[in-house]
Amino acid sequence: MSSLTVLILAAGNSSRMKSDIPKPLHKIAGQSMIRHVIDTAESLKPKNIFIVRSPHAEAFDKEVRPYKCVVQDKALGTGHAVKSGLEGIKGVGKNVLVLYGDTPFISSKTLKKLIKNHLENKSSLSVLGFDAFDPKQYGRLITEEKNVLRKITEFKDATPAEKKISLCNSGVMLMETVALKEGLKKLKTNNAAGEYYLTDLVEVFNKQSLPCHYSDADEQELLGVNDRLELARAEKIMQNNLREAALVKGVTMTDPDTVYLCKDTKFGRDVIIDPFVVFGPKVEIGDTSHIRSFSNLRGAKIGKNCVIGPHARIRPGTSLGDNTKIGNFVELKNAKLDENVSASHLSYLGDAFIGTGSNIGAGTITCNYDGFLKSQTKIGEDVFVGSNSSLIAPVNIKDGAIIGAGSVITKNVEEDDMVVARAEQKTFEGKAKNIKAKKRAEKDGIKAAKRKIR
Ligand code: UD1
Ligand code: CA
Repeated sequence: MSSLTVLILAAGNSSRMKSDIPKPLHKIAGQSMIRHVIDTAESLKPKNIFIVRSPHAEAFDKEVRPYKCVVQDKALGTGHAVKSGLEGIKGVGKNVLVLYGDTPFISSKTLKKLIKNHLENKSSLSVLGFDAFDPKQYGRLITEEKNVLRKITEFKDATPAEKKISLCNSGVMLMETVALKEGLKKLKTNNAAGEYYLTDLVEVFNKQSLPCHYSDADEQELLGVNDRLELARAEKIMQNNLREAALVKGVTMTDPDTVYLCKDTKFGRDVIIDPFVVFGPKVEIGDTSHIRSFSNLRGAKIGKNCVIGPHARIRPGTSLGDNTKIGNFVELKNAKLDENVSASHLSYLGDAFIGTGSNIGAGTITCNYDGFLKSQTKIGEDVFVGSNSSLIAPVNIKDGAIIGAGSVITKNVEEDDMVVARAEQKTFEGKAKNIKAKKRAEKDGIKAAKRKIR
């Protein structure tokens, strides 16, 4: 809807979170709540999106980019938040959609339905309502047939009869901009909370015979997060949704409940995820790859037909070519591995490039950090690095080279050379037997002396 301005309210006091971080910046499935809301708002293709934040919550500015924040000086209520928002915006569309920064589940489909009904009803104000299982402190919708809305009564101001109504206000509201701007001027604070309620607009509009309606939505979608308990519940629901979506898309999970995903985790076809795998943000897994138990991946692009884990740690900046094999207790950070590379056991490969077909032996470490700076390790194609080698970066091991096990590599290795960089083995014939006899005699002597003293 190209004439729509979306205003996301996020300037309220979120005291129940008991946090120094503003509530909408807390994360669900690896992404802040406000980002979830922005993603949904974007799907409506609006004219513009703005976020209303409090003066001290500068952290929003970075999080919501490329969108801009408007500051509400004081949290004087949802009506005041919308007023502050509109005053700070140039180019407001024909309609304004108000969303909340702490309601991360609202779906694009539901909002599109609200917009469609709004236009079909030629409505001046449309509210998303839901039939609450437990209506708690929500505002109650006072309605007539044909989805006509007469009034919203806040819980604190409701009569006992109104409190019995289970049809509640979600907070999502769509309004004609011209009427909205006029209406906001008429809001008063003569209510139980002493705030400017956005919800009072319904009565204001009705007095002017401007049509107000409501649309239904599923309660689950309108779940708000107010404290850490609700945050944990929201995480659980989001995880289930993401798992189900992945399963439907053709990912196999033996025990989905033990797999943790991010909103942006991407899977190809026929991926297999074993139990107890955690995906952090920005992970992409190619077709037919297999992620084995207890692996933790973030910021990584995994090619097709790779095997990762068990117990692999894949950190940001990693990309793996097709048919790569990363085994147990291997850590990768900012590592680009080409096709058919294998690092099967107990390695740290950081700030490294590894060419096609190379084999990294057990216990190989790229020594990338000297306490001050990070340096790169380059390994060419078809290189064989023997077990327990330390590669002191910066270092370049060229195509076809072999590194003998236990080497400490400090210099570049040329193409097709073999390098062994460890102390040479020496043999002292029979010396072990002599040493043992000497030591045993020494020990026996000490024991005898101690007995004498006693
Ligand atoms: C609001 C609604 C209520 C509805 C409920 C749904 C009003 C008066 N009441 O109540 O009918 O059932 O949401 O969850 O609108 N905010 C600001 N600035 C402010 C105050 C709030 O930006 O000055 C933001 C908050 O950050 C939040 C949203 O507005 O994102 C809602 O505020 P909140 O105080 O939680 O409203 P409720 O009392 O829950
Ligand atoms: Ca609330």
